[in-house]
Amino acid sequence: MELERLLRSQGFGSRPECRALVYSGRVAVGGVVCDDPFKEVDPEGFEFSIDGEPWRFRKFAYLVLNKPPDFECSQKPKHHPSIYTLLPRPLVTRGVQAVGRLDEDTTGLLLLSDDGQFIHTYTSPKKKVAKVYDVSVKHPLDAEQVASLLAGVQLNDEPAPIAATACAVRAERLLRMSVTEGKYHLVKRMVAAAGNRVEGLNRVAVGGLSLADDLPLGEWRWLEAADLERLREPAAAVVDGLR
Ligand code: URA
Repeated sequence: MELERLLRSQGFGSRPECRALVYSGRVAVGGVVCDDPFKEVDPEGFEFSIDGEPWRFRKFAYLVLNKPPDFECSQKPKHHPSIYTLLPRPLVTRGVQAVGRLDEDTTGLLLLSDDGQFIHTYTSPKKKVAKVYDVSVKHPLDAEQVASLLAGVQLNDEPAPIAATACAVRAERLLRMSVTEGKYHLVKRMVAAAGNRVEGLNRVAVGGLSLADDLPLGEWRWLEAADLERLREPAAAVVDGLR
């Protein structure tokens, strides 16, 4: 693939913009400036740098962001900055999108990708991918509330009760809870229907992929093959607090 086309595919702008980037000496391959935009390169594993920042060719981008509070998952936010301001420009240009949305006050694991099939898999309720939340609640939890979350609670505008797929009480006012749907304010509405109130929500896992302690709020990282494998695993161990 021509270098200019490869850079375009990775979000560095239009073909003329990528050509200009190369001509201006800002692109290096193997530490050596490459000023030929038409140089043929093998995209597989291709590494380059722009203004000294290292990049690797990726056919699709798969990322995880530790979403901070007071950021909106929309491209056109109303009250707070967009999560897209936390990503490097090329990732936004190449069309990376949040896989589902977290509320502006919710923190934690947010997947992002430009792979339509991946986005569909991890947002479709039919695929039954677990989303695991640490839920801080206003009132002490009791067995009845947990039982009703597990049995299913009836929400307004929903045709049938919705159940948590797993619940583990971790402290008097802290519940770890897993759901497979991604409806608007789902966890907040479920907990309210069970007779309590959500005061804080942090997503700790999707499938078997949990948020590592070393990814600070507001930071993102690439998902590698092992992470994508984990995503496909069940979340049971995460809910039981084993991970
Ligand atoms: N459920 C909610 O209520 N809010 C979120 O952000 C995610 C799940």
